Amino acid sequence: MVERETFACNNFEGAGVLKGKNIILIGFMGTGKTTIGKKTAIRLGLKFMDLDKEIVNYTGTSIPELFANRGEAYFRSVETQILRETLRQTGQLVSTGGGVVTQASNRQLINNSRQSGDLVIWLTASMETTWYRIKDDANRPLLKTTNPKEHIKFLLEARQPFYGQLADYTIDTSVLEPEEVTERIEGLFNRGGF
Ligand code: S3P
Repeated sequence: MVERETFACNNFEGAGVLKGKNIILIGFMGTGKTTIGKKTAIRLGLKFMDLDKEIVNYTGTSIPELFANRGEAYFRSVETQILRETLRQTGQLVSTGGGVVTQASNRQLINNSRQSGDLVIWLTASMETTWYRIKDDANRPLLKTTNPKEHIKFLLEARQPFYGQLADYTIDTSVLEPEEVTERIEGLFNRGGF
């Protein structure tokens, strides 16, 4: 897994202007996007937007039910629609679903947001940590396979290049408490750039 300690800045301009921009969290299932996203949003005074939750609100259906009844392709089309609408707004902390990067249209949307100054942070975790965090979660339909651990490895390997292409900054959450990750994001935010 690529771990970047240094930071490649796009055109992020600092604390004051972040109100007019978004922080977008990307990363695999179990990397803490929702937990960290909520805490960071409160801390930085941004509106928290969880795309999975928005999809559930929009469809009135849980994610496992959506996958089971309408299929993954339908889920992905709603995900793209919600992502597009969400990124029209600013001043948000946007937590994305782990598979958002699988769709070229979503990557384009996230990249466009970066170009206009949004900050994209890739949360990572080791394979073991990921497995430990998600293995018993019934809310993740992609784990309902005969060998979920192998499937996670497969998905992770396929998605890592996309996360890497989109991210301004990478934080490994395996050994950090959510508060520490939030502090790191806040630190970057307060420095007014990276
Ligand atoms: C998915 C991740 C989930 C959710 C859906 C599909 C994926 O979000 O969007 O189950 O393809 O990795 P989390 O990353 O928040 O678990």
